[in-house]
Amino acid sequence: MYSSKISGVGHYVPERVVTNDDLSKIIDTNDAWITERTGIKERRFADLEAGETPSVMGTKAAELALKRANISKHDIDFIIFATLSPDYYFPGPGVMVQDQLGIGEIGALDVRNQCSGFVYGLSVADQFIKTGMYKNILLIGAELHSGGLDMTSRGRGVSVIFGDGAGAVVISRAENGEEGILSTHMHSEGKYAKELALLSPNTSHWVPEIMQKNDPEDLSYYPYMNGNFVFKHAVVRFSEVIEEALQTNNCSVSDIDLLIPHQANLRISQFIQKKMGMRDDQVFNNIMKYGNTTAASIPIAMSEAWEEGRLQPGKLICLAAFGSGFTWASALLRWH
Ligand code: ACO
Repeated sequence: MYSSKISGVGHYVPERVVTNDDLSKIIDTNDAWITERTGIKERRFADLEAGETPSVMGTKAAELALKRANISKHDIDFIIFATLSPDYYFPGPGVMVQDQLGIGEIGALDVRNQCSGFVYGLSVADQFIKTGMYKNILLIGAELHSGGLDMTSRGRGVSVIFGDGAGAVVISRAENGEEGILSTHMHSEGKYAKELALLSPNTSHWVPEIMQKNDPEDLSYYPYMNGNFVFKHAVVRFSEVIEEALQTNNCSVSDIDLLIPHQANLRISQFIQKKMGMRDDQVFNNIMKYGNTTAASIPIAMSEAWEEGRLQPGKLICLAAFGSGFTWASALLRWH
């Protein structure tokens, strides 16, 4: 069996910054409420007219990750794309990255596990590399939330939380006994599927029916979140899955050099930090700048942590996510 490592990280966020004050001009909200409940100060919104779609943002993040990995795009064997906001209902954006990068006819897999999508994708990539099937895999997490949010006061409990952006990593076969991805762990609990969901269009509520009814009160085509319920489950599942990764590798919380949690809500991350007894310098937060970018949040955070010199050889890095499904997942890595 081979082992795998992350050989390059990159991210791309749209230029347009939308502050809490900007939002308060269009919906009934304010900076104090958003900051206190979520920690978010601003987020980025994509420029659709300039063609800034999830696959385009993802491709830009991927190009940076490839450059930093010092790997030619032609050496990529497989693409994995995690998103809940694909360019199209189908096909998924993985194939668009294959086209936009201008590379060979390699496989492209789309992962639909929302906030946990990046860690799920990492686990899939890890298995392909371990078995020797592939040597270099491009894993992207990208989201474009801004176009699908209810930007009226009715949607304020959800819309202020989300932002757009993309992150990418190159996962490569580790050479010469290097460590890398130590383990990955994935879970789901589908009975809570509707507690955090975008329900329409769906196979029993298709676009023709929605158009025919033309009902402005039909909120099923906006994301729904049972906020308090999500919070309570998130803090439990985050800690459980981090502990699971530590126990699998005979490590303890104090061994973690950097926890990069899915940037769901600063309050969630702070709750986990306190519950697990972690120091400030052990937990990476950048939700203040980008909001919650779902599948993109961990790779954007990894890329920024790398830029800040916080991903150094030998460091023990823990990734953890919780989100719609419910799904939750973690990965423990030894940076190389
Ligand atoms: N601005 C101002 N007031 C608001 C806003 C807003 N954007 N949104 C809601 N309110 C008001 C509500 O109308 C309500 O007013 P009322 O008391 O007069 O009825 C009041 O604020 C409290 O509303 P709650 O929904 O109870 O607010 P809560 O304190 O629960 O905070 C929040 C909401 C931040 C979403 C919280 O439930 C939470 O932290 N949930 C965790 C879920 C989460 O962060 N998910 C992230 C995305 S999912 C993921 O990544 C896993």
